[in-house]
Amino acid sequence: MSGTFRFLGQFIRRPTAVGAIVPSSRRLARRMVDWVDWPRVETAVEYGPGTGVFTHEILSRLPAKATFVAFEANREIASLWRGRFPGRNLHCGSATGVSGELSRLGRRHTDVVISGLPWAAFPERLQREILDATVASLRPGGQFATFAYLQGLLLPAGIRFRRLLGEYFTEIEVSPVTWLNLPPAIVYRCRTRR
Ligand SMILES: C[S@@+](CC[C@H](N)C(=O)[O-])C[C@H]1O[C@@H](n2cnc3c(N)ncnc32)[C@H](O)[C@@H]1O
Repeated sequence: MSGTFRFLGQFIRRPTAVGAIVPSSRRLARRMVDWVDWPRVETAVEYGPGTGVFTHEILSRLPAKATFVAFEANREIASLWRGRFPGRNLHCGSATGVSGELSRLGRRHTDVVISGLPWAAFPERLQREILDATVASLRPGGQFATFAYLQGLLLPAGIRFRRLLGEYFTEIEVSPVTWLNLPPAIVYRCRTRR
């Protein structure tokens, strides 16, 4: 619970950068990761792990020999995450640095990116910068999952983000609404060209 309060504290200080009042629910986390072809995954990346709700589900499915790296921009949240997942790899910095960090780990591509980023709070330039870096880092046919809050879907930034996904990915599937989440959310499950 203290993790949830520290997360809330960071939201109060930097609402648009953190983008959520409380961490996602376990049900949403499962919807983010359940469709991934885990037995084939050699490298997995997570953006904006926060307190680690998605991380927990990722790590319980990740093959033992696979490489994992998370990108968290907020230092306080990064230190909270490191305390929960000792020995796991977290880069404290923006998801825009994904290619550089993968090369540093000796990986050319990632098979999957699970994103917890608050896209609707980002300007288009940053949305594009992260999506460019993501598509360049994913292998052909690579999988990308992200979520969107229901109330944001009709806002200009939400509509723009949905349109951008269509520019960057060849397959996009939208999950049913996860009502057991604050606020309710949908998951976009996307793939790059095979
Ligand atoms: C909406 S919270 C989601 C946290 C967690 N994945 C969850 O669902 O509970 C977004 C997280 O993304 C982080 N973040 C925001 N911009 C980022 C960026 N450019 N690169 C990496 N992390 C970022 C925030 O600090 C925050 O921890």
